[in-house]
Amino acid sequence: MSLFNVYPLYDVTPVSAKDVYVYDDKDIEYLDLYGGHAVISIGHSHPKYISAISCQVEKLGFYSNAIQNPLQTQLADKLEDLSGCKDYQLFLCNSGAEANENALKLASFHTQKKKIIAFKNGFHGRTSAAVAATDNAKIIAPINAQQRVEFLEFGDLEGLNRLLEYDDVCAVIIETIQGIGGLNEVTTDFFQSVSKLCKHYETLLIADEVQSGFGRTGDFFAFQKHGVMPDIISIAKGMGNGFPVGGILIHPSIKSSFGLLGTTFGGNHLACAATLSVLDVIQDQNLMQNASDISDYFLEKTKDLPKLKAIKGRGLMLGLEFDFPISELRKTLIFKHQIFTGGAKNPNLIRILPPLTIQKKHIDSFFEALKNELS
Ligand SMILES: Cc1ncc(COP(=O)(O)O)c(C=O)c1O
Repeated sequence: MSLFNVYPLYDVTPVSAKDVYVYDDKDIEYLDLYGGHAVISIGHSHPKYISAISCQVEKLGFYSNAIQNPLQTQLADKLEDLSGCKDYQLFLCNSGAEANENALKLASFHTQKKKIIAFKNGFHGRTSAAVAATDNAKIIAPINAQQRVEFLEFGDLEGLNRLLEYDDVCAVIIETIQGIGGLNEVTTDFFQSVSKLCKHYETLLIADEVQSGFGRTGDFFAFQKHGVMPDIISIAKGMGNGFPVGGILIHPSIKSSFGLLGTTFGGNHLACAATLSVLDVIQDQNLMQNASDISDYFLEKTKDLPKLKAIKGRGLMLGLEFDFPISELRKTLIFKHQIFTGGAKNPNLIRILPPLTIQKKHIDSFFEALKNELS
C-alpha cells in the first residue's frame, strides 16, 4: 500500500531526539527551531516526560470515558493553577482541530445560534466547522462549505459590530497570534472591544491558543497580555509535547449536560500523564520565563541582520520577514547548517517555534548561520 501523498517532504529521517536536537538515520544532529510545528514545548525526550508516560502505560494506558479517571481531575486542577483561568471547566480531546470543532459546537449549543465570525488569514484546523472558519479555500471541501462563516479583516471592529448586530452569530473565533497566517496580532484595544461586543450580543468569544498557548509567548496564554477572558479557549500542540492531546477551557457560565460533547480517546490516561508532566516541567524549569528571556535575546540579535523587513510575533512564536522568498534559505539552513525552521503563508517569512527549553547558545548558532547566508 502506498501513502496518500499529501505532504511535501524534506529528505531527512529523524530517528531520535534530545531536548532541542533531533538526530537522523545517519546520526546527523539538527537544531530544532521548529519544534515539530510548535509541538515540542519541554524539549524532546525529557526524562520526566518519558518516565510519566512509561509508568502510566505499565499501569493503565487507556480506558473509556465511562469510568472515573482521577488523572483528568488532577490535570484540570493543575491547568487552572498554572494558567490562572479560575473556575473554567476542561473538556479533553485529541487535536487542535477537534478542540476548535468542539468549541464552535458548544458555542452553538449554548447560544442556539448558527453563524461563525472568523478572520482573514486565520487557521483553525481541518475538520467540519474548524476548516470552514479557516481562511484557505483550497482546504474547504463542498461538504464543509455549507457552514455559515463570515470572514473579516483581522482588526475590523466596524465590520464585527455590523455582523453581530444583524446576524445569528454563535461565536467569534480568533487566533490570538496567527500561526501559519504569518504571526499577525490584533491590538489590545481590538481584543477588548471584541470581548465587550460578544458579551453585548450574547455571542461567545473563542480564543484559539492551539499554537500560542502553553507558555509559548511567556504568558501561559497569549490573550492574557490583552486583559480579556474568552468564553472558550482551545488548546493542543505544546500541551502533550508530541503526545496527541487537545482540549477546551470553558467559562463557568457555560453549563454542561450529559452527552453534550464526547470522544472515545479524549482525556485518556496516557494523554493526561503526558500533559501533567508537561505542566510540571514548565513550572519546575520556569520555562515561561525562559521563553520571555530567550525571546528578548533573539530580538536583540536581529538588530544587524541584513535583508530583514520585519520581526513578527512574540515570545518563542517569532517570525523573520525578509525582502525575498525564503524557501531556498530554509533548505540551506537544514542541509548546510542542520537547523530546522518553519515557513508560513507569507513566502518571505521564516517561523521560529523552538522548544521552550532553548538557550542563548542555540540562538547564536542560528544567527551565525543566517549571517553567513545573507551577507
Ligand atoms: C492556531 C491553530 N489552530 C488549530 C490547529 C489545528 O491543530 P491540529 O493540526 O492539531 O488539528 C493548528 C495547527 O497548526 C493551529 O496552528
